[in-house]
Amino acid sequence: MSRERHPTSADPATDFDLADILGGRRLRRTRQSDWSRRLVRENTLTADDLIWPIFVVDGERRRIPVASMPGVERLSIDESVREAERAATLGIPAIAVFPYTDPARRDELGSEALNPDNLVCRAIRAIKAAVPEVGIVADVALDPYTSHGHDGVMSSAGKILNDASVKQLVLQALIQTEAGADIVAPSDMMDGRVGAIRQALEARGHSDTLIMAYTAKYASAFYGPFRDAVGSSATLRGDKQTYQMDPANAEEALREAEADIEEGADMIMVKPGLPYLDILWRIRDAFQVPTFAYQVSGEYAMIMAAAERGFVDGERAMIESLTAFKRAGASGILTYFAPKAAEWLKRG
Ligand code: PBG
Repeated sequence: MSRERHPTSADPATDFDLADILGGRRLRRTRQSDWSRRLVRENTLTADDLIWPIFVVDGERRRIPVASMPGVERLSIDESVREAERAATLGIPAIAVFPYTDPARRDELGSEALNPDNLVCRAIRAIKAAVPEVGIVADVALDPYTSHGHDGVMSSAGKILNDASVKQLVLQALIQTEAGADIVAPSDMMDGRVGAIRQALEARGHSDTLIMAYTAKYASAFYGPFRDAVGSSATLRGDKQTYQMDPANAEEALREAEADIEEGADMIMVKPGLPYLDILWRIRDAFQVPTFAYQVSGEYAMIMAAAERGFVDGERAMIESLTAFKRAGASGILTYFAPKAAEWLKRG
């Protein structure tokens, strides 16, 4: 290191012996140059880590901006096929498809979820035909289809019924699989749904279909913009605390993980993302199974909103947050930043 002028002080407090304190250990050595930082880097984000959630809507040549998610649009099926092609070009392994269901097609039971020609099934078929090499994740839950906005079946007293919901969810997962979904992803948090879906898939000869379980899904304020995107925020009756997890709990997430793995999940997930990195780490540490994080709509919106106002550098915040998931043990990340991040990574 070059000789520099050092501040000098007569204060005896500065009479410490730094060489003695450090004993030769200087952690800054490896940080001095780009080459050495690259050599010791512990985690690397690549396009292979990304799953891109998209929103589909009826019609043709339509791209409708989602106000609370700058840069995200609801796409008609033809446009979603174009974006799936973009995913393939960018090396993004998989996309997750969420429907904005016409409010006229929503009812108390979420019957449209069981229509084999519903929007999401048509989108899955079109994307699979055009871009077979991209994996397709289908969300299993009733909320885009119910008039009350809940993920399950509601009793007349307003209770979300577990066992009746699981029956609907199993049928929904089967029609999505038959439409061409490679991964079914139950996001409903009903008890026993992973095992029930696995049994039904095996019974119908779909033994190759993967299940990505939303394992530790918390009752979170960070889903707000998503509910705008699928049109369930205006209609949601009450909240989801009787089935989604309490943000105060961590050990319970380990019990959820144990159950989902035993019931036959191939991949598990923690959601939301950044506020729950401890959960991600604890699950990965305890179970060593492919574990994903969902950087949800509210997290995306926060970064985008702060970037738009010049409060943070949006690209750096994006890459830093995605890298944090890798560091915490994520096998991959569901993120609305997927195409932007993949483009950034391509530029190098
Ligand atoms: C619905 C579902 C939600 C999300 C994914 N699937 C919302 C909810 O549970 O209310 C949230 C995704 C996001 O906020 O980006 N079962």
